Amino acid sequence: MATLRLGDEAPDFIAMTTEGELNFHEWLGDSWGVLFSHPADYTPVCTTELGTTARMKEEFEKRNVKVMALSVDSLESHRGWIRDINETQNTTVNFPIVADEDRVVSSLYDMIHPNSDDKMTVRSVFIIGPDKKIKLMITYPASTGRNFNEILRVIDSLQLTAYRKLATPVNWKQGEDCVILPSVTNEEATELFPKGFEEVKPYLRLTPQP
Ligand code: BEZ
Repeated sequence: MATLRLGDEAPDFIAMTTEGELNFHEWLGDSWGVLFSHPADYTPVCTTELGTTARMKEEFEKRNVKVMALSVDSLESHRGWIRDINETQNTTVNFPIVADEDRVVSSLYDMIHPNSDDKMTVRSVFIIGPDKKIKLMITYPASTGRNFNEILRVIDSLQLTAYRKLATPVNWKQGEDCVILPSVTNEEATELFPKGFEEVKPYLRLTPQP
């Protein structure tokens, strides 16, 4: 299949997960989604990633985001490993993990990079909007645990764009000034951003985060 790109529809699938058989698009409903793969169960970095993701549930919920994990391990393996994650990471895994033994979903999302490893999925992350379009794709190597604070930061930025016509500048963090989208005129900006805006250049206009 063709490589996925930003703006493409996130491929739909039906898969067996630790929360039963799920139809991805139906399960997402009107929510935003994070679909992320990990190389294998019972591995150290993955254990910390899934534990941290479970502890961040409230943060995802606040943003109307549903999270789904995936590896090519079996359901039985996932279930046993979840017990370890809960025990060692001080949490309760609270999102479905796909048992992609037949690699249908990993193929759809190109999560196996054979020149890196032909059996395991790499650390892929897809952020999907309520319109089911892919908004972000990132790929990490197996040995590097992801920064889930960065994933939340990107979701905040994407939602500012979707709902407020704002972009976010370099290294932006919650509470810092945002950039007004170039498609917004100064007249519109005056209406949209009652806290005002600074026109550093006609193409660089900053406004406090709403
Ligand atoms: C890990 O999750 O710890 C891991 C998995 C595959 C390769 C290296 C590390």
